[in-house]
Amino acid sequence: MSASIHIVQPDDSTRLTEIGQLTALAYLSDGLVDQAHPYIPQLKDARARAEAADLLMMTNGADGTGPVVGTITVVPPGSEFAELAGDDEFELRMLAVSPLERGRGIGAELTRYAMERAVDHGARRIVLSTMESMHIAHKLYEKLGFVRRTDLDWTVIDNDDGTVTKVTDAEAGDTVRGTTAIRLLGYSWEPGSARA
Ligand SMILES: CC(C)(COP(=O)(O)OP(=O)(O)OC[C@H]1O[C@@H](n2cnc3c(N)ncnc32)[C@H](O)[C@@H]1OP(=O)(O)O)[C@@H](O)C(=O)NCCC(=O)NCCS
Repeated sequence: MSASIHIVQPDDSTRLTEIGQLTALAYLSDGLVDQAHPYIPQLKDARARAEAADLLMMTNGADGTGPVVGTITVVPPGSEFAELAGDDEFELRMLAVSPLERGRGIGAELTRYAMERAVDHGARRIVLSTMESMHIAHKLYEKLGFVRRTDLDWTVIDNDDGTVTKVTDAEAGDTVRGTTAIRLLGYSWEPGSARA
């Protein structure tokens, strides 16, 4: 495979639709969320990611041709897509690889590329969140040098009206009982630390 990685522009409607579908499919196929979950529209909305952050895609072809096989979003400081990042931190979000292309190093290659891009743009720290059940992603990030940060763990609660509430582990307590809550595990990486 002569794959290549590219930034996707907000006006590239065809690619944005393809990437949105792939991202939702990647999460659905692993049973991470179901069709009715409020996160699905966000996963599908690749245009919003392209507008407010750097949306990356890997295609099968060397020059950006061929089907999209994977995607990741590099979130700069201050972006509305920053969930965990502080003022001077970059964040990686919504890594997804087509279920047809797993286990070939695509997820790791996209993440490495995203880390390099963030560093090129001045990142002194990169943070990310994973769901507790994302065991393959945990392995992938740890292999690339990310460190588990229990102090960055948090919980997102999906409210009936479509809004979300974000709480720290300490705040969560009994409030998450009986709601659609997903606990997220934090990771961070700093340039100069180990990277595979
Ligand atoms: C996580 C994900 C992106 C990994 O993509 P991928 O292209 O298959 O990953 P890679 O091929 O780079 O593999 C990374 C590591 O996971 C391992 N791995 C991949 N698929 C695996 C599987 N089904 N079972 C066990 N290990 C697996 C690989 O062997 C590799 O480890 P190694 O280098 O020690 O061999 C992909 O599974 C996915 O899209 N999952 C759903 C969405 C998700 O969890 N995103 C994370 C957002 S935080």
